[in-house]
Amino acid sequence: MRLDNCAQEGWQSACAKVILTGEHAVVYGIKAVAAGIPNAIRARAVKSTIPSVVRIPAWGLALDFSGSRNNDTEDDRSASLVHQTFVLICRELGLVHDRFDLEIVPSIPHAAGLGASAAVAVASIRALSACFKLDLDDERVNAIAFECERLAHGTPSGIDNTLSTYGGVVSYQRSVTGEVTMQSVPLAADLSFVVGLTGKKGYTAQTVARVRAEREQETARYDAIFSEIADISEQVINILQSGDTGVLPTLLSRNQVCLRDLGVSCDEIEEILMLADGAGAEGGKLTGSGDGGAVLISAVNADPVHFALAENGYKSFEVQFPAAKT
Ligand code: PMV
Repeated sequence: MRLDNCAQEGWQSACAKVILTGEHAVVYGIKAVAAGIPNAIRARAVKSTIPSVVRIPAWGLALDFSGSRNNDTEDDRSASLVHQTFVLICRELGLVHDRFDLEIVPSIPHAAGLGASAAVAVASIRALSACFKLDLDDERVNAIAFECERLAHGTPSGIDNTLSTYGGVVSYQRSVTGEVTMQSVPLAADLSFVVGLTGKKGYTAQTVARVRAEREQETARYDAIFSEIADISEQVINILQSGDTGVLPTLLSRNQVCLRDLGVSCDEIEEILMLADGAGAEGGKLTGSGDGGAVLISAVNADPVHFALAENGYKSFEVQFPAAKT
């Protein structure tokens, strides 16, 4: 009921995302392919007379800005990061002395590799912009959300905030000097995936830092994996545009081998992939930073996959990306 009425009630929204290919490698300038999941996070701000409050009831988070956090928090680390993020957003928007009540309604879990933190930032910036009539354009929204991502994990590629702001199916590349090349990938055919949730939180900051530290020790091996991923991304871009997607599951599975070699898979991800395979799925990989989070599964027949995952205690849902209109 609330979600359906969002548009009329002044709610703002942001996309979550699935990364089809290229997570981690994208931090090192390799091209990634990702797709936005529309309306994954919604937010609405109203002016208030008491100290500002940010609430995400579905995640058990409620922060006030009188200097304290309440004890309704699910996870202290998330709470502290959300707090710092909102201090940054208020500073960037010039709202440090303004008071507001910001409610955030997610339809995705957090720390699941679906870009929730960037989407919270984008939806919140849009909600505050609407409430205080700041009239921010998407470029500015994206730039502030990138700063939030930097706070969250130091060296983000920018793919999460960009997908969250603009959505669509895109190839994304950020050079080591910071230039971003983002291109729309017009789908020749409808695309759908099952997303399986490990239920284990994946913490992007730690995983990205670990890959960085390990790459410093074994640069040649890591760079060889990244160059394999670059090749996979190019092939995926071509087949999405040609509509000849029969080989897509194999490419996703090849990307998973690379991610395993980077050390960012985990038992739950591997179990989900095994269950999906046993239920007839054609291929799949982790999506996002890994070490938990979500798994992207390509399956012509999705129902047996949902069933096999549910039977083993894993939640799943479907994401669909329609072919571009010609
Ligand atoms: O786990 P997520 O949804 O934050 O995705 C992170 C993607 C990485 O490539 C691992 C990091 C990045 O900044 O691109």
